[in-house]
Amino acid sequence: MLTEKQKLEEIIKLGNLMTQIKDVDILMETILSEAKKFTQADAGSIYRCEENTLYFNYTQNNTLLKRLEPGKKLIYSTFKMPIDSKSIAGYVAETGQILNLPDVYHLPQNVPYSFNKEFDKTSDYKTTSVLTIPLKTNGDRIVGVLQLINAQDDYGKIIPFLEEDIPLVKHFANNAAVALERAEMTRAIILRMIKVAELRDPKETGAHANRVGAYSAEIYEEWATRKGIDTIEIKRNKDTIRIAAMLHDIGKVAIPDAILKKPSKLTDEEYAVMKTHACAGAQLFMNKQSELDEMSQEIALNHHERWDGFGYPGHVDFETAKPLPGFKLENGKARGKEKEEISLWARIVSISDVYDALSSRRSYKSAWTEEDVINEMVSQAGKQFDPELIDIFVDIIDVLRSVRQKYPDEEAL
Ligand code: C2E
Ligand code: SIN
Ligand code: SIN
Ligand code: SIN
Ligand code: FE
Ligand code: FE
Repeated sequence: MLTEKQKLEEIIKLGNLMTQIKDVDILMETILSEAKKFTQADAGSIYRCEENTLYFNYTQNNTLLKRLEPGKKLIYSTFKMPIDSKSIAGYVAETGQILNLPDVYHLPQNVPYSFNKEFDKTSDYKTTSVLTIPLKTNGDRIVGVLQLINAQDDYGKIIPFLEEDIPLVKHFANNAAVALERAEMTRAIILRMIKVAELRDPKETGAHANRVGAYSAEIYEEWATRKGIDTIEIKRNKDTIRIAAMLHDIGKVAIPDAILKKPSKLTDEEYAVMKTHACAGAQLFMNKQSELDEMSQEIALNHHERWDGFGYPGHVDFETAKPLPGFKLENGKARGKEKEEISLWARIVSISDVYDALSSRRSYKSAWTEEDVINEMVSQAGKQFDPELIDIFVDIIDVLRSVRQKYPDEEAL
């Protein structure tokens, strides 16, 4: 086992690491594996509180991992449970108390919670000792739960968690809580940014942004399900693209009103200015703090690229909008990105954006009928759009239509 001194050294090392690792997902994985290492736990999970529900977010299980072929990832079904005293994790989230249970199959008689044996049954695993700790922020708000499973002695025998390890595990829990809270704040700031953009263009931007976000999440989910991507990863990416796609046109904040609000067709010159919204948007996500920032930047920059390579801005340095070395064409412009050079996220949003633009009235055009819109989208498969994603688009058109109805355009003020 690690000595007290080694444990303290590990914590200091981790503290340094954490200031470097900004991404909340990597941070959660790191916190979990370090907490497991300290307590010699075989498995562990982090749950996140949202409203009155606990969502199972991150998990690691050494024993189950060893049963897999090398390189394979563990697949867990996403699950959630209410925050109440019936489950162990729910009880901890509700009361803020730490529970150190030596054997969950032999709980004390008078406790309100019980152990859910489903997980053990479906994965052929035997949970015994469980240490469950609330994730409390510095303001004492509970944002989630850290659960460590099956402490082992040096011979691999399962033993109860040591009381003396609890202060150190609390330290990890606090770090995790602060990181989760920061991720939530990032999200809140972004929603505020979208509101500001709405203020400039109240007729279009708000509902358009919401619809493009929601269509993109649906198209992604269908794509990922068909690819057999694990459900936890799907849930995470779906949440992220829902917000990142809303921000696709955030770069329009840099476009002058005279162009942005022009009630008729743009001149070539004006259209050239309009096209700068792609790089301008990407520049807003310069300090990439999370997966969300990274995806938002991909989307803002690339949502007007085309599958056939004739979109914009092409292979540019988004800070200067100049062609990257080797990508400059005769006319001085950058070669467009094509096919998989364009990230999946941007290929999805490109479809959502145009579907929504064609279906809606704009100051410069009237709305198209649904039939015309779908015909146009399908005819652009392999030209403007990724053909595989257009197949999905057509297959889920019912879902997309219902999203449209959920976020109607507001009447002109
Ligand atoms: P937006 O209104 O969100 O449109 C997004 C994209 O949908 C457009 O990207 C274009 O690919 C597609 N789209 C929109 N309307 C039509 C259409 O009538 N026919 C076809 N085939 N595609 C259409 P694009 O062209 O890069 O435009 C980017 C943004 O520039 C538009 O965002 C809009 O804000 C603005 N914009 C484009 N053209 C005009 C225009 O003639 N007048 C004005 N006032 N704004 C324009
Ligand atoms: C619970 O906290 O009751 C569920 C924990 C688990 O199934 O691992
Ligand atoms: C243009 O080519 O000027 C704009 C196309 C459009 O979005 O209507
Ligand atoms: C992430 O970093 O993965 C998401 C950040 C957020 O949810 O705000
Ligand atoms: Fe755009
Ligand atoms: Fe748009």
